[in-house]
Amino acid sequence: MAEVKKIAVIAGDGIGPEVVAEAEKILKRTEELYGYSFETEHVLFGGIAIDEKGTPLPEDTLKVCKSADAVLLGAVGGPKWDSNPKELRPETGLLGIRKELGLFSNLRPAVIFDCLKDASTLKPEVLEGTDLMVVRELTGGIYFGEKFRREGEGGQEAVDTCVYNVQEVERIVRQAFEIAQKRRKKLASVDKANVLETSRLWREVVNRVAPEYPDVELEHVLVDNCAMQLLRRPSSFDVIVTENMFGDILSDEAAMLTGSIGMLASASLGEGSFGLYEPVHGSAPDIAGQGLANPIATILSVALMFRLTFGYDKAADAIEKAVAEVLDAGHRTADIAVDKSQALSTSEMGDLIAAAMK
Ligand code: NAI
Ligand code: MG
Repeated sequence: MAEVKKIAVIAGDGIGPEVVAEAEKILKRTEELYGYSFETEHVLFGGIAIDEKGTPLPEDTLKVCKSADAVLLGAVGGPKWDSNPKELRPETGLLGIRKELGLFSNLRPAVIFDCLKDASTLKPEVLEGTDLMVVRELTGGIYFGEKFRREGEGGQEAVDTCVYNVQEVERIVRQAFEIAQKRRKKLASVDKANVLETSRLWREVVNRVAPEYPDVELEHVLVDNCAMQLLRRPSSFDVIVTENMFGDILSDEAAMLTGSIGMLASASLGEGSFGLYEPVHGSAPDIAGQGLANPIATILSVALMFRLTFGYDKAADAIEKAVAEVLDAGHRTADIAVDKSQALSTSEMGDLIAAAMK
């Protein structure tokens, strides 16, 4: 009997509960097929937590997350809470949970499913074979640096500072090398070392640790060039590692290669194997409660959890293969369907994928 893995489940707001319910079907199916054992505990977070507990991130939610092996998150937020003061907004909870759980990296895979190549705005022959992962530093750099205004000679000045230390760079770079070792063993480190001092430090650290990963082929790419190459030769990338702001921009660019936000999974990691897994999309209030949401992003987030936190590679493969098989057979939710009248509901899609796992 396998060890019981504890998963804190945050369904959240909007379509969150709908897509998380489908991911839980996948957990159940994995138990049946592989003999693994998951203990899930649902906790309140985001808008629903504000309504019921008066705070987006209640203490007991944090406690359950901290004692779990992994967190599965749907999505939070919606117009109902948009005009609340900062401490009563779902987004404040998101920043808080990342910080409290020490999640310093954000991973976003962008995979092209062959049968969905026409959903992208890029030419199918350019996208062919694209399967990349952006590893973004999440808790340092210019977003977290000191910010202030002052009077200067040309009128008011605004200052944002970008700071990185060796330790911050080293931990994410090592993580990226290790991820590359488990994939196609190619790492692109993205910086602006021709201009920025933080980038020069970044590059020094990458070059210092690289010899410890001799099986990984390393290239340094300047960020502006990377933005171009992602559109020109996306299939040549395997793992891309970069600092916070560059990663924010490049991960959105990479995401759009695939054409649909309903398909994109993400992981946020800290030290060790603990991770928080969630779809890239938000709570989609426009389609919430109607069974229209595509659950694939959340289901693929479970595959990431299996691979990165639990080391259940075979089960992760089984999920990804099942998704590909169901799509290849022509099944679509409305967001990726050409003929919307034929579209499946959220739970129909989840059922088909669970059934296709083997
Ligand atoms: P969104 O991702 O929720 O929706 C953007 C568009 O994509 C909408 O038209 C929506 O219907 C569609 N969409 C999103 N996910 C889909 C799915 N699984 N299947 C089919 N269609 C899907 O982004 P938006 O509208 O900017 O934000 C809505 C709310 O979500 C806001 O309150 C925002 O703050 C929050 N949000 C939360 C995130 C999180 O929990 N990590 C991330 C992004 C936004
Ligand atoms: Mg962004």
